[in-house]
Amino acid sequence: MATSAFQRLPGFRDFPPEELALRSHIQEAWRRVSRRYGFQEYDGPPLEPLELYVEKSGAEIVGQLYNFTDKGEREVALRPEMTPSLARILGDRSRGMSKPIRWFSTPQLFRYERQQRGRLREHFQWNVDIVGEEDVAADAEVLAVAIDGLRELGLGPDDFRARVSDRRLLREVLLAVGVEEERLPTAFGIIDKLERMPRDKARATLLKDAKLGSAETDGLLELLDSAGLDAVRARFGDRGAVAAELARLAQYLGALEAMGLGAFVQFDLRIVRGLAYYTGIVFELFDRKGALRAICGGGRYDRLLELVGGEPLPAVGFGMGDVVLGELLAERGLLPAYERALDYFVVAVSPEQRAQALRIAHTLRDRGSSVAYALKAELGVTKQLKAADREGAKEVLIVGPDELARGCVVAKNMESGGEREIALSELT
Ligand code: HAM
Repeated sequence: MATSAFQRLPGFRDFPPEELALRSHIQEAWRRVSRRYGFQEYDGPPLEPLELYVEKSGAEIVGQLYNFTDKGEREVALRPEMTPSLARILGDRSRGMSKPIRWFSTPQLFRYERQQRGRLREHFQWNVDIVGEEDVAADAEVLAVAIDGLRELGLGPDDFRARVSDRRLLREVLLAVGVEEERLPTAFGIIDKLERMPRDKARATLLKDAKLGSAETDGLLELLDSAGLDAVRARFGDRGAVAAELARLAQYLGALEAMGLGAFVQFDLRIVRGLAYYTGIVFELFDRKGALRAICGGGRYDRLLELVGGEPLPAVGFGMGDVVLGELLAERGLLPAYERALDYFVVAVSPEQRAQALRIAHTLRDRGSSVAYALKAELGVTKQLKAADREGAKEVLIVGPDELARGCVVAKNMESGGEREIALSELT
């Protein structure tokens, strides 16, 4: 039962040290992998002009915005995603920068979502983006970073996989089955939600909203289910536009195979992504059992920078959240053990040794060790030793009158119980 008069807002988390340890464990892995690939870290403000998101991110995310009018009558929103901020930041400075730009960030993001498993109203999201490179090698590089982020945390090909597709290929396939150009966004929307929809409803929606015939709808659903490149090649490979898209995808998959990451990657034409700005290859990472929501999503967005008023630069990247990832790590027994750790705890046998104890503690801190002592000077030795144990001290330095007279202190190893004497001259 809550005892505080104030409760946390729904969908938000507190991070007491044991919880923060998991967040740090995840974020440190993300940083290590980013640096290994030569990415530089950036950040931006958590509050942005509302307009940055409207029409650029798509209706779904705009419906989830935490937005308000500030005291200067500006329409503002807490950032629900990082990509528009990245586009805005680069809009101001990309012209003078050498390309490609490889940047990463781990912002906290805010979305007013219906709270459910894997979905909160705030989360931390690793963003990795390559800007200024249209070659499909950049797409492969970005997916490799995402996969390695999960490998770094101990997850393997039995734990998760990346489902990849290409909106350009889907577009050509839809045109080939008879969807009219102006119905393409509607058809994309339906396919994006296909897996969360009963089959009859999907069929009925495709018939009604995408204006497809009955046979065409069945053919399309069958193709989407088959989830294989070969099926697409067999049916539409003789169409030039489809063949060109298939060739690019083959190059992409070949690069990931060459990196040794082939086992993590699966082509799946049903991956569309909900955000409006994607223009090419798109992907999502899921746990193998398919029990959790997406861990990560991303893709190519070649027009967003220009749309926010910057240099027209191609871009590709992803966002990986800490919420679903934390659930998956917990499920696989990969959570870090939380331990309090301290190099030394200094015990003064009586208040007369307090000044010496403080001096020793401070000298050791200056040398870089972690050190604590009981703040109450009158605490007995037994209680001080208990405190040392609670704080996870490796060694306790006992500062007593007899030892001081001999010019030393006793160091007790808390694990082995072994004791040794250390000369005072070494500690002050
Ligand atoms: P997104 O698919 O909206 O993409 O989010 C990416 C990931 O963030 C999701 O797969 C999920 O793990 C996590 N996530 C999103 N919303 C929530 C939530 N309410 N609670 C917990 N986790 C959440 C983007 O945001 C794109 N801007 C990614 C991107 C970067 N594309 C290119 N560059």
